[in-house]
Amino acid sequence: MAVSEAFLHLDPMLLFKSGANYGKQRNLGLLEFHYSLGTSRNGITSYAFSSVGYYSTARNNRTKRSCFSRCKCQKADSISDVTADDGTPTSLSINGRTNVNNAQEFELNQLLKSDKEGFANGNTNGVGTVIDSRKSIEEEAWDLLKESVVYYCGNPIGTIAASDTSSSSILNYDQVFIRDFIPSGIAFLLKGEYDIVRNFILYTLQLQSWEKTMDCHSPGQGLMPASFKVRTVPRDGDDSVTEDVLDPDFGEAAIGRVAPVDSGLWWIILLRAYGKCTGDLSVQERVDVQTGIKMILKLCLADGFDMFPTLLVTDGSCMIDRRMGIHGHPLEIQALFYSALLCAREMLASEDGSADLIRALNNRLVALSFHIREYYWIDMKKLNEIYRYKTEEYSFDAVNKFNIYPDQIPPWLVEFMPARGGYLIGNLQPAHMDFRFFSLGNLWSIVGSLATVDQSHAILDLVEAKWSELVADMPLKICYPALEGQEWRIITGSDPKNTAWSYHNGGSWPTLLWQLTVACIKLNRPEIAEKAVMLAERRICRDKWPEYYDTRRARFIGKQSRLFQTWSIAGYLVAKLLLANPSAAKILINEEDAELVNAFSCMLSANPRKKRGQKGFKQPFLI
Ligand code: GLC
Repeated sequence: MAVSEAFLHLDPMLLFKSGANYGKQRNLGLLEFHYSLGTSRNGITSYAFSSVGYYSTARNNRTKRSCFSRCKCQKADSISDVTADDGTPTSLSINGRTNVNNAQEFELNQLLKSDKEGFANGNTNGVGTVIDSRKSIEEEAWDLLKESVVYYCGNPIGTIAASDTSSSSILNYDQVFIRDFIPSGIAFLLKGEYDIVRNFILYTLQLQSWEKTMDCHSPGQGLMPASFKVRTVPRDGDDSVTEDVLDPDFGEAAIGRVAPVDSGLWWIILLRAYGKCTGDLSVQERVDVQTGIKMILKLCLADGFDMFPTLLVTDGSCMIDRRMGIHGHPLEIQALFYSALLCAREMLASEDGSADLIRALNNRLVALSFHIREYYWIDMKKLNEIYRYKTEEYSFDAVNKFNIYPDQIPPWLVEFMPARGGYLIGNLQPAHMDFRFFSLGNLWSIVGSLATVDQSHAILDLVEAKWSELVADMPLKICYPALEGQEWRIITGSDPKNTAWSYHNGGSWPTLLWQLTVACIKLNRPEIAEKAVMLAERRICRDKWPEYYDTRRARFIGKQSRLFQTWSIAGYLVAKLLLANPSAAKILINEEDAELVNAFSCMLSANPRKKRGQKGFKQPFLI
């Protein structure tokens, strides 16, 4: 086959990929690509493409001119012939414990009915679309979600964070955020619209190998961006022609310059969900995708100074992307890390070169689940144990390993902890337990099986018992309680956006509905999520889909909240779709692995708290 002919037969995404690799060469003004063979970052020979790739030195070497809007770029190869692997959906009973208060449910239904009849008359979403009051909330959500789609060279590639043109400061809300796209992607998958998810997965993968620097320093190679923007710019040297350019932000432009540790973890989770939902495993089997997975894993599994198996990160490295005192080993990152490790293990092709990586991954899974289940868990019993801790124990046999001073138990916790139920704390450091309840970390620990089955149920018991603290008028509090007064001043640095019971500091985020729903379905307790969805439906649409709500009971739309926030819309849709078809939630769920359980119980029996100082103890889980 002639080379030019070969070019026509190649997957354009792959072609683009090899261009990105060339783009990694530093300080090149312009790279002209010709039909030729090249070596990609993984050493695999691939075809480079014709003169459609430019690499601009402008803007800190971050802008890669890669694709022209004049039909030079092609659509990612079609996946429309893909069939689902589900077969007959295994129905998950939704008759679990019925805890919904009937009177309250009736009241909610009535309110919902009247809201549906009367909401949003004449509202516009700020981009000119008149909201039709006859539409159901779900229909309106779908319309808005579709409007939020961002195109790259004519192909859907993601969804914009918010479409609120009424807001005076757009900041980076006009970008596609990796974490924000996850509920959008799941909603599209569940609707059978696969292209956008596939494109998102493959194009963001290209960004992984981007040139990224902040003040001459480059972060690790596997990092995925927090967000990216599609810019349409005049073509170099020809102002009459425009081209689409992908412009990622790895945190080097983000407020506070925070590194998005969660992006790569969410990317792996979405990749697995895509494969499970579509049955199309060809994406995860691609060499470049396999390399992408390994790069993320290598970055996460790299040895550092740390003593703990948990991932050590800076403040603001996840959904809470501002200073909120979550530096160290925050639960949200650990839950995503664990789930991403399990997803990656399922997808990694077994080949000679990956044995070490898989061994490291397995060992980390065991150590991580042991650490979180043992040391992050609190309930009434554990709290009482901490209350009576001895301190300054120097030995291998220490019960109070992290030297926690009992005085750290905050007064609010004594009230908050229900007799039945418990949760995983927000963070653990030497001499410090962050006792705040973080919703996403706890919910994803259920979904990904980082928490045991008993712990998982206990978390939902707590959500039910503390409904008026965690849900109240709008699901769901991002964390509880808020930092106030001196604590707020010291920990947030007097952040005016994160005042008590606002935004990340005890604000309520409707997007969390979808994670709550997956967790509830997994435990066969969907009625909890149903109740939360019903509550949201009372106002969310009339309030124009805010990003977050403020006050203890989530009564106000957030002070600086964007409206028409896409992940509020998509989160609601995913919750509705999953409640209607619970078995579909399995694309996101990681079931407890029998080998891991076995390894975990071996570790438990060797734990100094139960059996002191077992010298020569070896982790059994070695492959
Ligand atoms: C805020 C949120 C972050 C989200 C972004 C875009 O920065 O804290 O989690 O990804 O907005 O919606």
